[in-house]
Amino acid sequence: MTILNKIIKADDAEPGYDTLIYGKSGTGKTTFFSTYPGPRLLIDCNEGGIESLRGTDTDTISCGSFEEVDTVITALEKQDFAYDSIALDTVSNIQQMCVSMYAKKYKKKDFSIKDWNIISQLMKDILYRFLDLPCISVLIAQERVFEPRETESNSAITIYPYRSAALQPALESAMTAAVDIVLRADAFVNNRSHVTEDSTGRRVPKELKTTCFRIQLRSDEYNIAKVRSARDAHVPFYQMDPSFNKLHFIITGEK
Ligand SMILES: Nc1ncnc2c1ncn2[C@@H]1O[C@H](COP(=O)(O)OP(=O)(O)OP(=O)(O)O)[C@@H](O)[C@H]1O
Ligand SMILES: [Mg+2]
Repeated sequence: MTILNKIIKADDAEPGYDTLIYGKSGTGKTTFFSTYPGPRLLIDCNEGGIESLRGTDTDTISCGSFEEVDTVITALEKQDFAYDSIALDTVSNIQQMCVSMYAKKYKKKDFSIKDWNIISQLMKDILYRFLDLPCISVLIAQERVFEPRETESNSAITIYPYRSAALQPALESAMTAAVDIVLRADAFVNNRSHVTEDSTGRRVPKELKTTCFRIQLRSDEYNIAKVRSARDAHVPFYQMDPSFNKLHFIITGEK
C-alpha cells in the first residue's frame, strides 16, 4: 500500500459543495442557505439575520464573540455528526469579532502589519477548521469592492477594482480558493406594466414592481464567482430564484 493507491479517476470523484456566498444586505444569502440539504444549522453572528429562516426547518445558534464561534466549532468537531449543511453567517462579522477580541486582549487601538497578519491567521485557522467539518460548509459574507493596491497597479498585470467577500484581502483570496463554489447574491426591481380596470370600468395602465433574487455563478471583470463543473457543462451566468437543487443540477446534470 503506497500513497499512490489513493489515486482515483477524476470522473469518480464526488463533487464538492462547500460554498462562499457574498452580497449586499437583503439580497437573499440567508434564504438561499435554507435550500441546502438538511438537517441544517446556521451559526448566526448577524444579530437578527435569522428572521428570513422562519418556516424553513433550520436550526440556529447565535454567537456574540469570536471565542463563542470557536467553542461552537470545537463542539461540532467532537460530536457524532448530525448536520448535512452548516453556515457561518456572516464571516465578515466574525472577522470584526476577531479584531475586537485581539484589540481587547492586547489592549491595542492601532494595528501594525504584524497584528493584521496575526488576525488573518486566527481567521484562517477557524475557517479551515469549519470547512473541514464532514458536511457541506457555507460561508456567508457581506460584499466589498477591492481596489488595486499601489504595488499591483505598477505590475505587468492590470488589476481592476472587483467585488468579492468583505474580508481582509489575504483571507478573501484564501477562502475563494478553498471552497468549491463562490456565488454573488444580487436583487433588483423588475417593473412590469399591465392594464387593469378602475372602479368605473375604465381600463388604466398599472405599474407592477417585483423584487427579483438571483445569484451570479461565473466571474466577470468586476465580480468574483466560480462553480467547479466539467468543462462542457453549461453553467449559466445567473440563476434566478436560486436554490441548492438548481445548483446541483447545473453541477451534475442530475435532476
Ligand atoms: N428567492 C427569494 N424569493 C423571494 N423572497 C426572497 C428570496 N430570497 C430572499 N427573499 C426575501 O428577501 C429578504 C432578505 O433576504 P435574506 O435575509 O435572505 O437576505 P440576506 O442577504 O441574508 O440579508 P442580510 O445580509 O441583511 O442578512 C427576506 O425577507 C427574504 O424572505
Ligand atoms: Mg442574512
